[in-house]
Amino acid sequence: MVPLPPTAFDGCDPATYDLLMGPAMFEPYALDLVGRVDWRPGIRVLEVAAGTGRVTRHLVRCLPENGFLVASDLNEDMLAIAQSSIVDPRVEWKIADAQALPFADGEFDVIVCQFGAMFFPDKVKAYSEACRVLKPGGTYFVSAWGSHDQNPWAKVCHRLMHEIYPSDPITFLDLPFGYHDPEIALEHFRDAGFSDVKAEWVQKPLVAPTAAEFAFGVVSGTRISVGVLKRGDTIEGCAHMVSELFAMEFGPAPMESTQEALLLTARKAAT
Ligand SMILES: C[S@@+](CC[C@H](N)C(=O)[O-])C[C@H]1O[C@@H](n2cnc3c(N)ncnc32)[C@H](O)[C@@H]1O
Repeated sequence: MVPLPPTAFDGCDPATYDLLMGPAMFEPYALDLVGRVDWRPGIRVLEVAAGTGRVTRHLVRCLPENGFLVASDLNEDMLAIAQSSIVDPRVEWKIADAQALPFADGEFDVIVCQFGAMFFPDKVKAYSEACRVLKPGGTYFVSAWGSHDQNPWAKVCHRLMHEIYPSDPITFLDLPFGYHDPEIALEHFRDAGFSDVKAEWVQKPLVAPTAAEFAFGVVSGTRISVGVLKRGDTIEGCAHMVSELFAMEFGPAPMESTQEALLLTARKAAT
């Protein structure tokens, strides 16, 4: 088996990611995203970087009787969580790198990718692949987190990682919150062959039942866990420190804050 790149959530716990981070961070944006799709009879949808299926579940709910969905991700363990909760003959599962999609040209009407693009090492290649497998006139929806300032939990957690490990900080949170310049992202889509591209900021509340649960999800469900173990510490110990900080900043139960993401829409020319 080919080893996973660290950018494909290698070493993270998909179950805690889905259960403890999913409802607060990914669910509100999943609902927003499926509401943007022009659902038509016979629609063929591809989901890239589907992860544990937060968006997939809503895509299936909206899919017409004769629609078809391929849900894909590079990380088999993430996709296994999605597969365990969705059994539907209209859905096909695929382990696939967004930068080398295993599909023929022009197979899909719509492609969606929620919070995956920040992890693609070659974004133009990934978007070119999406453009290739879209039908003429098809649409690609991509979401990407805003900056640390726009996502306060990430800002304080990132700062804490520098305070705990001053000489060798865990910098994981730079990556998911580091692709937030709309002009750069739009240029990537144009370079990939999309003609009609736009960017929109979408703000949502972030609400978790407790700061402790969300903190455990953040540490255990992301590459922060790998960094903590590498430094000889425990996930529980680190999550406890993060939890105390979150409780102080955003309340212990519920934990309440705001979050903001870029919603990028790219259309392939109709001819
Ligand atoms: C933050 S998760 C988002 C998952 C899901 N879309 C959601 O909203 O919960 C990022 C996902 O991107 C996937 N990923 C990273 N690099 C990838 C690549 N090159 N090709 C396909 N998937 C990739 C990871 O495996 C992970 O499941």
